[in-house]
Amino acid sequence: MAVAIYPGSFDPLTNGHLSIIQRGLKVFDRLVVAVLNNPKKTPMFSVEERRALIRETCPDPRVEVDDFQGLLVHYTRRKGVHLVLRGLRAASDFEYEFQLANMNRKLDPEFESVFMMTGQDSFYISSQLVREVASLGGDVEGLVPPTVFRKLRERFPRK
Ligand code: PNS
Repeated sequence: MAVAIYPGSFDPLTNGHLSIIQRGLKVFDRLVVAVLNNPKKTPMFSVEERRALIRETCPDPRVEVDDFQGLLVHYTRRKGVHLVLRGLRAASDFEYEFQLANMNRKLDPEFESVFMMTGQDSFYISSQLVREVASLGGDVEGLVPPTVFRKLRERFPRK
C-alpha cells in the first residue's frame, strides 16, 4: 500500500491544495493530510477548524486528516510513513522546497519527498494571499473550495 503524508499549514485549504490531494490519490493509495500546529504563530483558523474544513472538503476514506507539532521528521517517523508529498507552484517555491527536502533528509535519511506541479488554474493561489484578499473584503470565490469560501464569508462578511 503506497501512503504519503501531505503536510502544510492549510490556513486555509485552497483549490491548489485540493488539486494536489486529488491528483495525489491517483498516485498513492492513501494520503495523510497533516496540518501543522505551530504554537508560535496565530493562524486565521484554528487547527480544529482547518482539520474540519479539510475533512468536509475531502470525505474520501483514502484521505486521513491529522495534525502535528514540532519537526516533520519526528511526525513521519511516528506515523511510520517516510514519504512526503508537496506541491510546487512557480520557480519561487523551488528554493524553499529544495532546502526543506534536503534538511529533512539530513535529519532522517529515510525521509523522501515527492513533488507535484500545481495546475495552471492554481499556480498563483496561496493561503497567504487568500487570507489577505478575504480579510480586506475581496472575492476569493473559485480560489478556495466552497466549504472554505462559506467559512471565510462568515468570518469576513462582504461590505
Ligand atoms: O503550507 P506550508 O506552510 O508551506 O508548510 C510548511 C511545512 C508545514 C511543511 C513546514 O513548515 C514544516 O514541515 N514545518 C514543521 C517544522 C519542521 O519540521 N521544520 C524544519 C523543516 S526542514
